[in-house]
Amino acid sequence: MPTETVYGLAVHALDADAVRRMFAVKGRPADHPVIVHMAPSDALGRWARDVPEVAERLAAALWPGPLTLVLRRDPRIPDVVTGGLDTVGIRVPDHPVTIALLERFASIVAAPSANRFGSVSPTTAQHVRADLGDDVDLVLDGGPCTVGLESTIVDVRDPEQPRILRPGRISAETISMLTGCPVAHGAADAVRAPGMLRSHYAPRTPVELVEADEVLARLAADAAVAVLTDDATLAATIAARWPTTARVVAAPGEPFARALYDALRRLDAAGTDAILCTWPQPSALVDAITDRLRRAAAR
Ligand code: TXA
Ligand code: MG
Repeated sequence: MPTETVYGLAVHALDADAVRRMFAVKGRPADHPVIVHMAPSDALGRWARDVPEVAERLAAALWPGPLTLVLRRDPRIPDVVTGGLDTVGIRVPDHPVTIALLERFASIVAAPSANRFGSVSPTTAQHVRADLGDDVDLVLDGGPCTVGLESTIVDVRDPEQPRILRPGRISAETISMLTGCPVAHGAADAVRAPGMLRSHYAPRTPVELVEADEVLARLAADAAVAVLTDDATLAATIAARWPTTARVVAAPGEPFARALYDALRRLDAAGTDAILCTWPQPSALVDAITDRLRRAAAR
């Protein structure tokens, strides 16, 4: 199913067999928790318990949208969904096709990103087909994802301190402003979370995070490299001096985030020895983009 962040591999969350099949198709370890998706008309407390005021505030302001709230789980949610944790990640996605789907089904759809475990997340229906092929029954084509990075995950169980487990389009500043609380980063305990593994979202070609000077030096030395950058000056130099270089250039911030996963897939297919990515320029999304690039570059 399409969402504003990335495509999701959707199954009914209360159907344990369907959830197990989803894990098999994804090739994902069974102890990793999956996000539960609800329709906008659902109350936050439908699948969670002890919902604090800060969670209500975030949901009211930001849903539908690229935000996942981690709360104490309702016991009706099967262990296969939460990986046996006593918490559940819940979000209301902002995409008309998927909202219609959620409203017609029971409004409890478990969905990880619709890629094989460890590979780059899909931001178009074509990416899903290329990755999962006939292992899925149906691909709902909702067009390219408008955000392009997975949701911000916030653990909101502590009523006085929301904790960002995964950075995304919704920033720490926004969460702090809406809740009036200081925001912590990273899991307090060792949470089993695939999106938090060091190496993740990685193409087959090695990815290196480098400065613009390094890109120029490698091209000058005739290295077989592809380039991903949001640096217009660097892009102009490459276009002038090495016009055949496989490259993706996007404006900083939202355009770069939106282009990122498609770019990694395209540059992976170029068959070079390495994909050189320049450190992203300052923007509201710099933390989220850097997080994904670091994981793509980790081996
Ligand atoms: O934008 C998104 O969040 C997309 C779309 C499809 O909604 N979904 C997504 O799912 O990125 P996935 O499975 O690729 O990543 C989900 C992340 C994982 O890092 C997982 O560990 C974390 O959410 N997560 C899920 N439930 C959790 C929980 N109860 N506590 C902590 N982390 C949790
Ligand atoms: Mg994922």
